[in-house]
Amino acid sequence: MSSVCLIINIQQLVNVRAYSQLLSGAALAELPCIENAFLLIENGLIADYGAMYELELKVPQLPKYIINAEDKFVLPAWCDSHTHLVFAASRENEFIDKIRGLSYAEIAAKGGGILNSAQKLHNASEDELFNLAWKRLEEVSKLGTGAIEIKSGYGLTVEGELKMLRVIKKLKEKSNLLIKATFLAAHTYPLLYKENHQGYIDSIINEMLPVIANEKLADYIDVFCETGFFSAKEMEMICQAGMRYGLKPKLHVNQLNSIGGIEAGLKLQAISLDHLETLNEAEINLLGQQQSSLSAATHNKTICTLLPTAAFFLRMGFQPARSLIDTGCAVALASDYNPGSSPSGNMNLVVAMSCIQMRMLPEEAINAATINGAYAMELGKEAGSITIGKKANLIFTKPIPSLAYLPYAFGTNCIDSVMINGEFV
Ligand code: NIG
Ligand code: FE
Repeated sequence: MSSVCLIINIQQLVNVRAYSQLLSGAALAELPCIENAFLLIENGLIADYGAMYELELKVPQLPKYIINAEDKFVLPAWCDSHTHLVFAASRENEFIDKIRGLSYAEIAAKGGGILNSAQKLHNASEDELFNLAWKRLEEVSKLGTGAIEIKSGYGLTVEGELKMLRVIKKLKEKSNLLIKATFLAAHTYPLLYKENHQGYIDSIINEMLPVIANEKLADYIDVFCETGFFSAKEMEMICQAGMRYGLKPKLHVNQLNSIGGIEAGLKLQAISLDHLETLNEAEINLLGQQQSSLSAATHNKTICTLLPTAAFFLRMGFQPARSLIDTGCAVALASDYNPGSSPSGNMNLVVAMSCIQMRMLPEEAINAATINGAYAMELGKEAGSITIGKKANLIFTKPIPSLAYLPYAFGTNCIDSVMINGEFV
């Protein structure tokens, strides 16, 4: 394929931004589009774009490779900023337990949940894990995902966590997708340390972190801050150690209970606080008030990353997206792809559910799943919008009547094709 490619007659080119930035509050509802547009791609990057009437002026010499995108909307590919895509086995038995009435916490207490996945991971080789994860990556890229964050957290031993992170590193090397790695040893306490929490925290800090830093295996650090898992204090201790090695926090907070994770996460200047199913009014205000209290330039606003398919799968109330946006938060959407609480990495479904159940406008949901998702992985310069210099990671839709049709026709596959780095997958 030629390294220059011109796409013409695009019915609507979506999320076009000369200058890209994280979107908060009311700005999330603005989704700039160009009707009847062209897009020029050079060496896998967006080189130019505009309305068709500007084509002659902007691209005087047409390249050989031209794609006609008549009747198609073209969007930036989804940026899925929270997944646990590396795992050894599915857990549909627990799914049945849940149907029979057991809660997430009860299943965890029975040795199911994360510990079940840790057991399965222990028995899987690095190659097996890689092959399984590779298939999932292929699957989600066909569903329109072009950038993705992947966590460890099913290892729970030095050996297991390193195995997971090495698999993620290999995925980074071999895949065309943009991938970020997050170290989540603090996902639960392994049985060995059930009565000795400090022992496990010490192992994370003294045994795992130095190797991870040395082999450059992670970009971020994560902790599951939750009743029965890690307290806000423990989260702070672990994050501070991670930050000494250059790992910024992206955190699981307020999924089931509110135990101080929001305050602690804001104090840690986390890149993002994720889940947020359980928020009280004071916490929503804290998240919304951030902007005014931020000392300019020192750190970006902490992003609120909502994972509606996890709330759906666990039959919980959805995240209060409306209140968060209306108080001025920067909201991102992600799939939480994992075998326990969201066995789907389909971002189209995430976007639809956000509109249907959380009353996000289609424009807000698309921004939250593209540009804000990119910022939640510090990929704001590389992905998430149609901006010159960004990766040509694109979704081409089938013929649809309007953009709002995407979340409206939930469960319908509206994607015709997906491009990563300027090449169709
Ligand atoms: O994000 N909440 C913690 N971790 C995952 C679930 C992990 C699992 O059940 O395997 C989540 O929902
Ligand atoms: Fe998660």
